[in-house]
Amino acid sequence: MSDAIRYELLGDIAVLAAANPPVNALGQAVRQGLVDGIERAEKDGAKAVLIYGEGATYFAGADIKEFGKPPLAPWLPDVCTRIEASPLIVVSALHGTALGGGLEVALGSHYRIAVPKARVGLPEVLIGVMPGAGGTQRLPRLIGVEKSIEVITSGRQIGAKEALDLGILDRIEDGAPREIGLAYARELIDAGAPRRAVSDMPAPAPVDFDALYRDVLKAGRGQLSPAVAVRGIQAACELPFAEGMKRERELFMELMATDQRQGLIHAFFGERAVGKLPELEGVAPREVHHVGVIGGGTMGAGIATAALLAGLNVTMLEMTDDAAQAAKGRIAGNLQGALKRGKISEDRFTHLTEVALRTDTNYLSLADADLVIEAVFEDMEVKKQVFGKLDAVCKPGAVLATNTSYLDVNVIAQATSRPGDVIGLHFFSPAHVMKLLEVVVADATAPDVVATGFALGKRLGKISVRAGVCDGFIGNRILAVYRTAADHMILDGATPFQIDDALEEFGFAMGPYAVGDLAGLDIGWAVRKRRRAEGLDPRARDAGFADRLCEGGNFGQKTGKGFYIYEKGSRARVPNPDVMQHIEAERAAKGITPRTFTKDEIVRRYMAAMVNEAAKVVGEGIARRPLDVDMVLLFGYGFPRYHGGPLKWADMQGLPGLLDDIRAYAKEDAFFWQPAPLLETLVTDNRTFDDLNKESA
Ligand code: 3HC
Ligand code: NAI
Repeated sequence: MSDAIRYELLGDIAVLAAANPPVNALGQAVRQGLVDGIERAEKDGAKAVLIYGEGATYFAGADIKEFGKPPLAPWLPDVCTRIEASPLIVVSALHGTALGGGLEVALGSHYRIAVPKARVGLPEVLIGVMPGAGGTQRLPRLIGVEKSIEVITSGRQIGAKEALDLGILDRIEDGAPREIGLAYARELIDAGAPRRAVSDMPAPAPVDFDALYRDVLKAGRGQLSPAVAVRGIQAACELPFAEGMKRERELFMELMATDQRQGLIHAFFGERAVGKLPELEGVAPREVHHVGVIGGGTMGAGIATAALLAGLNVTMLEMTDDAAQAAKGRIAGNLQGALKRGKISEDRFTHLTEVALRTDTNYLSLADADLVIEAVFEDMEVKKQVFGKLDAVCKPGAVLATNTSYLDVNVIAQATSRPGDVIGLHFFSPAHVMKLLEVVVADATAPDVVATGFALGKRLGKISVRAGVCDGFIGNRILAVYRTAADHMILDGATPFQIDDALEEFGFAMGPYAVGDLAGLDIGWAVRKRRRAEGLDPRARDAGFADRLCEGGNFGQKTGKGFYIYEKGSRARVPNPDVMQHIEAERAAKGITPRTFTKDEIVRRYMAAMVNEAAKVVGEGIARRPLDVDMVLLFGYGFPRYHGGPLKWADMQGLPGLLDDIRAYAKEDAFFWQPAPLLETLVTDNRTFDDLNKESA
């Protein structure tokens, strides 16, 4: 017997206890242990078998680390079939999260009992595959086609009560899984309960699976796994059980071979790796209970909302009483949203807005704050003044953070006598919704201040990524470059609408020009004006058509008009005809003869610009690892998760081909398309960005 499954015979009940921390993933040893355990129980003359997990959870799924490697026997579908075929009564007792292959083992068992806090689900589509051990065959027989489609294509976790109501569970009982499982098995033996197999249940009636496949593919913006899972459910309806299992396996293996599966699994592990930094090992964060926020505009109000929802006390500092009231109104508005969605109760809403939140106009109110986040206007002089005042009033050891988008955190830190306490905490709009937080580490930032930034991010439910100081840090710096590449394509003949369409087809929720309209075109306008004032390199191509829109007072959705026209009360967008006039005028003035761009060319250039700048950001140490950049783009910029992030995408495309493209583009514009030295080195050494991730793990 393998150590991963502990066998014990207690009278006429054989107990198979999984011991494969941290999540009892169903690796080869666990699978072998389950088969051996069932066989031994049968030989030992047991009447029932109890399967449960030791530690935090029942099986949380197949071992994702084995994916992409040759599958090792026994395969999980066979394990589930073997369990189900046993003449003994097999009971699974669930706690923690019975997910994916875990739930499939439970569905292969004859009876399922769970603790009230247990959660079940088939989340395989979220990592680019589909249930591959009978999930698409057994679940529809148990709960019907319609419910199975919803559960499997969403991959969502289902609470025990709902699972009981759906018929996935037979019983819920409070207690230790081993104890409730043993009691249930005893009861079943004593009652002479029959051995039941889900595979013996009749196949459900089919629905219009072709239409469903198309709808699911569209809803997933091209993500294959949920749509292919629909085909698995179809097989359950149309084929005998054993044939359906074969079909499921084929579909599962097809998905396993896709780039999307690689991308989604890269995202799964990247999300978990991104906060693990050697520099933070053994460094304790400073305690944070009371947070000060300076400036209650869009960002400050969102940051305050996130902090309040995480149980922190917040003091909001504004310039005037009126501005403070307005900030309080914005925060209350955000919290109203949480109230409406049932995330907080009325009482909690009242507590957060009336007790946990204070507003003030006097810096002395921040004297006992543990951490202060500045979110005032993006103006260095204003920021310096604010930090000078903070230096004067804040207690020793308070962390002083800036939410600046582009400004130099080192210069801001120098406005204080304690640069070691200063850090950038760059949130994304809306700050109480967006998952990304860039933790910007300046030259003098103390390690425990960095640790505090990460601890705060975790508390606020953010994905925190370490960034170094440069214009725009990781995300905005890369954004500026790929947006510029898009502007250049427009000067040369593409339209903003074609670019948006091409990138939406690639998987972005919105193309860059639609995003500009949503965020407000005035933001980019201000950045361009600042950069021009600082002096553009004479070799840089400058595009002015977006400025023409802004000069006309068209800032996007908030003014009803930008690249698109938005009817009041409607989210539908219609291309703004003025845009093409501005573009054509600019092309004419610059003597450009427009040419056509295919969708592929658009994506290729846009992505090449993104990858090249991302490689510079890693090469310069602004991002520690390629995966850090990938997580920034996924969680802050709507990059399609199933491509894994720009650098994972680049690896899958092949770095030599991308570098060739960049060199070809450089023949047209050598200034813009300067290949990243890191990209060149990787190509020369025949290595990938992922090799760098692995080296740093
Ligand atoms: N395989 C391998 N490692 C896994 C894993 C899995 N299925 N699930 C989690 N882990 C690892 C994590 O990488 C992490 O490792 P680390 O400590 O080295 O970073 C550790 O276990 C703990 O995981 P979390 O940090 O995520 O812990 P949480 O308590 O926050 O969450 C969880 C636990 C809900 C189980 C979450 O980890 C999760 O969602 N896991 C994936 C579940 C899943 O997708 N299962 C389906 C797998 S596919 C499948 O079963 C195919 C089958 O149909 C054939
Ligand atoms: P905003 O203009 O909506 O809000 C700024 C607020 O700061 C105003 O309410 C103003 O009254 C207040 N304020 C200005 N000077 C002050 C002072 N000396 N003391 C106290 N309050 C003061 O600006 P927004 O968009 O919230 O941006 C704030 C900061 O966040 C900027 O540095 C910006 O670059 C950054 N940021 C903005 C993002 C966005 O999408 N809007 C995203 C990430 C960062």
